[in-house]
Amino acid sequence: MKKIDRETVQRILDTADIVDVVSDFVSLKRRGSGYIGLCPFHNERTPSFSVSKSKNFCKCFSCGKGGSPVNFIMEHEQMSYQEALRYLANKYNIEIKEHEMSDAERERESERASMLAVNEMALKHFEHNLTATEDGRNIGLTYFLDRGINEASVKKFHLGYALERNDALLRDATQKGYNVDYLVKTGLCIRTDTGRVYDRFKGRVIFPVFSVSGKVIAFGGRTLKKDVAKYVNSPESEIYKKSHELYGLYQAKQAIVKHAKCILVEGYMDVISMHQSGIENVVASSGTSLTEGQIRLIHRFTEDVTVIYDGDAAGIKASLRGIDMLLAEGLNIKVVLLPDGDDPDSFAQKHTSSELEAYIAAHETDFIRFKTDILLQGVAMNDPISRARVINDIVQSIAVIPNQVMRNIYITECARSLGIDERIVALEVTRQSMAQAEKASVKAQKDAARQSLDDVPAPPKKAEETAQETSPAITVESTNPELEFIRPFERRLLQYVLRYGMMQLAEEYDDADNAVTIYVIDFVESELSGDGIQFADPVVLKTFTEALNLRRTSWEADFAANEARLLEERSRYIADGEAEIRRSDSDLATIQRHEKELAEKADAIYFEHQRQFASAYIEKVLCSHLDDDIRLLSLDLVPEKHVLSKVHTKFSKVETDEDRLAEIIPRTVYELKDALLECRLRRIRAELKNSVSTAGASPDHIMTLMQEMNEVQHLRGEFAKYLGERILNPRK
Ligand code: UTP
Ligand code: MN
Repeated sequence: MKKIDRETVQRILDTADIVDVVSDFVSLKRRGSGYIGLCPFHNERTPSFSVSKSKNFCKCFSCGKGGSPVNFIMEHEQMSYQEALRYLANKYNIEIKEHEMSDAERERESERASMLAVNEMALKHFEHNLTATEDGRNIGLTYFLDRGINEASVKKFHLGYALERNDALLRDATQKGYNVDYLVKTGLCIRTDTGRVYDRFKGRVIFPVFSVSGKVIAFGGRTLKKDVAKYVNSPESEIYKKSHELYGLYQAKQAIVKHAKCILVEGYMDVISMHQSGIENVVASSGTSLTEGQIRLIHRFTEDVTVIYDGDAAGIKASLRGIDMLLAEGLNIKVVLLPDGDDPDSFAQKHTSSELEAYIAAHETDFIRFKTDILLQGVAMNDPISRARVINDIVQSIAVIPNQVMRNIYITECARSLGIDERIVALEVTRQSMAQAEKASVKAQKDAARQSLDDVPAPPKKAEETAQETSPAITVESTNPELEFIRPFERRLLQYVLRYGMMQLAEEYDDADNAVTIYVIDFVESELSGDGIQFADPVVLKTFTEALNLRRTSWEADFAANEARLLEERSRYIADGEAEIRRSDSDLATIQRHEKELAEKADAIYFEHQRQFASAYIEKVLCSHLDDDIRLLSLDLVPEKHVLSKVHTKFSKVETDEDRLAEIIPRTVYELKDALLECRLRRIRAELKNSVSTAGASPDHIMTLMQEMNEVQHLRGEFAKYLGERILNPRK
């Protein structure tokens, strides 16, 4: 491969847009000034992959991978720098002049690239056969047309035909200078023990399989006869890992994102026929049961999956387990059952696209109900053993669902359709999920231990360390794990109170319609006392109480005194300025203009001084407080603010915390509340675990605990929603 010249490289780097490039592989959502999505480099359920359009840069906050558009492609597609540049050049139609490859150059090319090149050549070969050879047209194309596949679909899916000969592809490829080794490595040809090489695909119509980025990585060949294996597929290879690919995803991914839904079918023909009738968000698992890799692939584009089943019941039971994996991945699963004897292909061929859409909409059933119905078929109401087995099976599916709110919905649903007490189902689900959680927590602990040093807690550590050295009381307390967990949240909130406590957050109107200013500290105080929350860390509590004291006792008077001083200053400033203007200006228009400017400037100075006074009010007192605890903690939490303010004045565009108080303060409060709920949840879980494993435990007590747990989970869900919205729309 020839090197790309520097000018072209620069052009590629200048053109490639990170959002655009990443979007080909990851479904991105707007968040704040950037975008966020599920990281393609590791398995995750909540997005930590962040993309900044302005910086033209992406990064996963969890696994650390990312970089420029070129870095992203290198990492994601496992390409070299040169290959990644070529990929981007191709994407943006930037021309790269290239020479015909010499043998020596070709050999130097990486194995992967060679295999992809061979596949690309084979794709053209098969396509050419189908449309431009007599056999291809008479046999292959006719077959597709007979099955209702039109020429547009043939083109879109690059369908082809393998001639009924042992060496049609082999000869074409070697004539064009391709190395036989790569034909064998990709599986396009087979080499016998005696060294003879022949084509794998013969007399079959060809379905190329594309990677998510559109490279040909494998082929499926369908026979046109009755007596042989229906499909022959490319074997696994360096470039084709079957369990990590989905047929049709390349053609479907835009539609999946657009409709926020992925339809899952079984075969090549199903995908193509559904596309042809206008439903494009369809992929196929290609006959085998779903793998985790395939599920993760879907999850990168959407959370909602609809599985379409043929009417044939035997196949359904076999595939139920695959669906549990979809549930465990946190996907929302619906199921559509087709009429007996139809598969998606035949059904799509028989109906118009609006009929097809209407059918799906009308027959979509949530998975748990579907599974219950299927399993209960043929089980008599009075057969307790079989029924118990069914219940157990359903419970297993519900227990893998990560979202508690959804889980509760299914518990109710399942109890109703099985005609049993909801509490019994709930108890079973709890038992099962605790067993699963146990396993997960062991793993989580290991993960946490590995990365504990990378974690930077938000508030600085110095005061805590100092305190620990000097005060044995705090050392004892720091061994309390709950306090340890809560402390960073408390300190962060206190930090905002110290820095911005007397800044205005909002205005409200009292009964007499007077405007009342709500300061940051007021908001925090009312949010906490409203929920009966008190800071658990004694020093945080002491410092906050002192700040509150200040606000209640001296603020109004101090503010008024300062206000009087500022107004006086302002009048003096204006008087001086006016005298100056009258001295130097003569015509009326100029005088008026200058006076207006003067008033505006005076206002700006006045407001800035007022802001400074409010901003410094609490920190000034507490940072020089007589109480050591209060002073040291305040000194620790306040400083960064001033660094930010300096940046703020120098480059006026930089947004500081102060500009975003209306977003940050509620969020910080809710993060503390959420952390407290987490603590409560941990306590309940521990007690529940205890009770469930105790033989004589009272079922009522267990139920109470479980109900409490559900309530807490529900509350957390509400917080999460609230926090999510705040993050999505910071300016609202
Ligand atoms: P189907 O038998 O449903 O095939 O197998 P199909 O796609 O509907 O094809 P037609 O309608 O008979 O022409 C579903 C999928 O299972 C894989 C293929 O990916 C197929 O699309 N399969 C099936 C194989 O790989 N090998 C086989 O022998 C059969
Ligand atoms: Mn079929």
